[in-house]
Amino acid sequence: MQTNFNASFPLNRPRRLRQNKIIQSLNAEISPIIEISRLIYPVFVMEGQNQKTEIKSMPGIYRFSIDLLLKELEEVYKLGLDKIALFPVIEPNKKNNTAEEAYNPDNLINKAIRAIKKEFPKLCLIADVALDPFTMHGHDGICDEKNYILNDETVQILVKMALCQAEAGADIIAPSDMMDGRVLQIREALEKNNFKNTLILSYSAKYASGFYGPFREALGSSLQFGDKTTYQLSPINACEAEKEILLDINEGADLIMVKPGLPYLDIIYRASQISHLPIIAYSVSGEYSMLKSAALNGYLDERKAVEESILCFRRAGSAAIITYYAKQLALWQK
Ligand code: PBG
Repeated sequence: MQTNFNASFPLNRPRRLRQNKIIQSLNAEISPIIEISRLIYPVFVMEGQNQKTEIKSMPGIYRFSIDLLLKELEEVYKLGLDKIALFPVIEPNKKNNTAEEAYNPDNLINKAIRAIKKEFPKLCLIADVALDPFTMHGHDGICDEKNYILNDETVQILVKMALCQAEAGADIIAPSDMMDGRVLQIREALEKNNFKNTLILSYSAKYASGFYGPFREALGSSLQFGDKTTYQLSPINACEAEKEILLDINEGADLIMVKPGLPYLDIIYRASQISHLPIIAYSVSGEYSMLKSAALNGYLDERKAVEESILCFRRAGSAAIITYYAKQLALWQK
């Protein structure tokens, strides 16, 4: 790439390329149109029947019981959204320190996967693999007596959990826990059990972030002690994210996640430079809450800001974006 321009004004007038919409389109580096096929819609499922409760810190986003979730999905599927990420709200009495409920074949998430795939066989369903919905303390793994999150013991549980979800019909298994070696263990278990086409979307570069607060409210999985810095990445590191991505590629991941999204566009860009796999950006709950609350206060033009942020994810190098705005973006386009 040419980096030093010798020809200066008036030989170079960059505004020549911006003089009108038609010339601007010649100068476009990516398409300015938001492709709905690039969006993944995250949804929260809860127990019960005919239940729909709004998440206080995420106005417009709900937890649904399975029956109402199917109705919601019918609506979004018609809008052209054909990929969802599913997160379960587990009842407190089913949580414990060993997270057995995580690999109960009839737990809420597996029931929901079966119901969704029965109704919408072609819908691409991404199932989250991590223990935080199932532990009382809200950590993504089980811990020892000193409250240290145990790696290998946790991975064993994650493998069982992933197999249950593959069995239930999940198309993509998405480990979001940041334990070492879990992608390889899950990949080997999937191969051995004949789930050869089940994909793994690894949350490779997942940061210990303050932007997950509203999600934890949604799940009731707020931390009872400590923080997640002994397993998730520190926001001050970028090379370490590259290391995690390369390791996960070697372990057999099919897709790579960077999370959160907007404050981490540099990580998305780096990921796209070192990896031939699709990079998925997760624009997390706190990002939604920021945009939504500013919009509700009339501080910014919601559609303009949200669509811009999606294009920025694409420019930075992400193939697809998980966003709570997916349904709204599809509605705006209608
Ligand atoms: C849990 C998980 C989290 C999110 C997705 N999976 C929270 C966390 O790691 O603490 C956050 C998503 C969001 O904030 O929208 N493994």
